[in-house]
Amino acid sequence: MTDSLRAWRREFPILDRCTYLVSHSLGAMPRGVTAELAAYTDLWAARGVRAWAEGWWDLPVTVGDRVGRIIGAAPGSVVMHQNVSVCQSLILSCFDLGGRRNKIVYEDLNFPSVMYVYEAHRDLGARVEMVRSDDGITVPLERYLAAIDETTLLVPLSHVVFRSGFVQDVAAIVTRAHEVGALVVADLYQSAGTVPADVTAWDVDFATGGSVKWLCGGPGAGYLYVAPRLRDRLKPRVTGWMAHAHPFAFETGPIEYARDAMRFLHGTPAIPALYAARAGQEIIEKVGVAAIREKSRRQVQMLMDLAGEHGFSTGTPSDPDKRGGMVILDVPHGAAVTRELLRRDVVVDHRPGAGIRYSPHFYTDDDEIVHAVSETRRILDAGAYRAHEAAGGAGF
Ligand SMILES: Cc1ncc(COP(=O)(O)O)c(C=O)c1O
Repeated sequence: MTDSLRAWRREFPILDRCTYLVSHSLGAMPRGVTAELAAYTDLWAARGVRAWAEGWWDLPVTVGDRVGRIIGAAPGSVVMHQNVSVCQSLILSCFDLGGRRNKIVYEDLNFPSVMYVYEAHRDLGARVEMVRSDDGITVPLERYLAAIDETTLLVPLSHVVFRSGFVQDVAAIVTRAHEVGALVVADLYQSAGTVPADVTAWDVDFATGGSVKWLCGGPGAGYLYVAPRLRDRLKPRVTGWMAHAHPFAFETGPIEYARDAMRFLHGTPAIPALYAARAGQEIIEKVGVAAIREKSRRQVQMLMDLAGEHGFSTGTPSDPDKRGGMVILDVPHGAAVTRELLRRDVVVDHRPGAGIRYSPHFYTDDDEIVHAVSETRRILDAGAYRAHEAAGGAGF
């Protein structure tokens, strides 16, 4: 079968050096990042402080617009921040937790950093209710919908679950939440760039994610979407001068919020990270998430089949519509096997209680997948993991 996306491999130097199956953690660096970072230093060197007026000041919105095109957001509705945890904190800071509507509902498979943000607000009145998974892989939708009631304030869910690749039904959860006056925050980190996401079609209230993984954009470039219909009534307490309507008036006293997306910024943004993120976004946009998803579905199925052939069970949903871009293999001695895989230049990762995560992306060749799974089997059969068993730390 011809793979038209193979041509993109030349844009990612690391693919010549190893078997790279870890885009659920850190997407491969596009070679264009080097030029982007040079553009950043060139502008700073040549123009100095004038760089702010020549692009830097607006960068959280102009880069946000590029993310917006990937996740179905209208122009001017996405701003860039450092990471998801900051975005979740900023969203939560728009609300009062002292009243009757103070319940936070999310799945127990949610990304822990998101949990830490909401748990830390229990002192201020937040009541966190976790929707239990029975199998550690999927989350029953009916149970999720039943947990959302008239006292629910926010539902900060993961579109794709980081420890299993399970795809949640965001639209159904939004419909239920809106019926009872609750708002939904969709974490798109494990979907945007590999699984289609459409914040406008879902009518979701907030969305957040980052550039590190499937967007191949590197660290420091998280994004925050706020539905335009909500903008004017939200007043984040996590704020700063960039969110002011007239930042350069340097007015003393309380903030007068900007009337556009800048309202959801705070202080000086991480400009180099925003430059770096553009190269990956440009490629993802050109390739198109639909084409990426099509290839991903085929290669994810291939991984599932190979896992079965090599005697591994998977911690990934069996329904192709319900799984994202990664496959989790339940491999005995998983942490030690992962270390040996890394030593052999097969780059995957291990999550305690889940297993070894393998992810093809649009730049992955089929034979890399075959190699990774058979190498895993060989390491186990030969006991080549034993030397790593004493090593501490879970690693990245
Ligand atoms: C679903 C999900 N949310 C959030 C994060 C990261 O959060 P942050 O951007 O705060 O580091 C990750 C992975 O690192 C993730 O998989």
